[in-house]
Amino acid sequence: MEMSSRRKFLTACLGTLGIAGLGAALYPLFRYLAPSKGAGIKQKMTFQMSDVPEGGAKYFELNGTAAVLVKPKGGTVVAFSAVCTHLGCIVQWQKGQDQFLCPCHGGQFSAQGTVLGGPPPKPLEKLPLVVQGTTITIG
Ligand code: FES
Repeated sequence: MEMSSRRKFLTACLGTLGIAGLGAALYPLFRYLAPSKGAGIKQKMTFQMSDVPEGGAKYFELNGTAAVLVKPKGGTVVAFSAVCTHLGCIVQWQKGQDQFLCPCHGGQFSAQGTVLGGPPPKPLEKLPLVVQGTTITIG
């Protein structure tokens, strides 16, 4: 094999290996970013008013994410994503104080989801909720 054809052969081999390597490196990134099967299907949850005591909270999972239904004292039911808007910990309902506390960095949210203190940059995400009689539908 002549020197220039050997060089062309080696260049072609390295190019092929480079493309294969790039594909192997990008595939996990693609799988991570691509929506999983079932994504986009919106789940709905139904509760009865009696499922949530006055001043209490009921945690559940909606579309694979932690969510919470609260009934503040003297108020009406509200549903939120229970994921803290700071770094994603699950906020805890503080019965008796009518507010949420994030155990990770002390973020505090009101019963309406607004930030009362700590590092969270924005309110808890409210979830759509419909009350018909004594039935609560979320999602
Ligand atoms: S994750 Fe909630 S305050 Fe940091």
